[in-house]
Amino acid sequence: MKKSVLITGVAGMIGSHLAEELLHKGYTVTGIDDLSYGALVNIDSCLTHANFRFYRVNILDFDTLKILGKDTGTIIHLAAVKKISEKDISLPTLLVNTKGTENVLETAKMWGCKVIFASTSDVYGMSPDLPLNEDGDLLLGPSLIKRWSYAVSKLYGEQLSFAYHHDYKVPIVVIRYFGGFSPRSSFAWSGGHIPIFIRAILRNEEVIVHGDGLQTRSMGFVSDLVHGTVLALENEKAVGEIINIGNDEELSVLETAKLIHRIAGPAHELKLKFVPMSEVFGKYKDILRRIPDLSKAKRILGYSPRVKLEDAIRLTIKEVLKHPSA
Ligand SMILES: NC(=O)c1ccc[n+]([C@@H]2O[C@H](COP(=O)([O-])OP(=O)(O)OC[C@H]3O[C@@H](n4cnc5c(N)ncnc54)[C@H](O)[C@@H]3O)[C@@H](O)[C@H]2O)c1
Repeated sequence: MKKSVLITGVAGMIGSHLAEELLHKGYTVTGIDDLSYGALVNIDSCLTHANFRFYRVNILDFDTLKILGKDTGTIIHLAAVKKISEKDISLPTLLVNTKGTENVLETAKMWGCKVIFASTSDVYGMSPDLPLNEDGDLLLGPSLIKRWSYAVSKLYGEQLSFAYHHDYKVPIVVIRYFGGFSPRSSFAWSGGHIPIFIRAILRNEEVIVHGDGLQTRSMGFVSDLVHGTVLALENEKAVGEIINIGNDEELSVLETAKLIHRIAGPAHELKLKFVPMSEVFGKYKDILRRIPDLSKAKRILGYSPRVKLEDAIRLTIKEVLKHPSA
């Protein structure tokens, strides 16, 4: 296998940590990003590495993408417009996540690359079959609710990936990441509740909890997401498979706020503000429980999460405190 990878979305949260890890393991890494959400500061340590090249490119620019794909062993396709709220526009999500994925797959077909496609636990939607298993049915909401555009675009990406796998023999691995975070997470809503809560608690601001906060999530540290991705890259048994990657510890949103407050060292009282779901999401029904079944990841890749949620929060707070103005 060629030890050269092209990472789309390299300046984002997962992409930047993954690039560091692959360079450390001796890979040659070409990273592309249009910097719409990611930032160059995230790949600071890579930019000076002899085996790293960065190109500011939009994945919708197929002519450039196909030139950059030459001599690449694997394309790890992370670039995406992530979940949106009802106030946002959904076209970028739909176009970047579908057309961009098609461009990546065409590039891989042209040069004989393997593709790792970053999908999401959002595709399980409201499935009640817990823990969420790769073979399970998916339960999505109505098209009139924009929030579903992200899950639908990723699901289309999965189907398209398998079509290229079956029809053109492109080696494909689909990873369904469950929520992850790191000090490089976006501290906006799309980065998930943990970074937002950390920032609010450190600034002694109100922690905004959607609904009653009893909805649960299974959040993992980025190093576990990166570890699972590297295992999928290096293990041929993963080809043709959908694999959940993340952490299966389950904690309610409310308990997570209390845990962060406790870890941060409660100089102030925890200020919680409960906002009705309908005010935030309109008619979108929030997912009440989201837990991955990681048995397939363990069986095929030997993957298990290594960082406990509490330690992940501790590490993130420590890093955030080093740059209080960020
Ligand atoms: N972080 C999570 O918890 C999580 C969970 C499930 C799935 N995922 C998936 O994993 C992937 C990476 O997630 P992340 O958290 O690092 O997201 P991120 O937003 O931090 O990174 C995505 C990167 O893609 C770039 N990008 C967006 N549109 C682009 C375009 N048109 N051309 C080039 N670059 C573009 C952004 O600038 C950003 O740097 C995404 O596909 C996401 O859907 C992430």
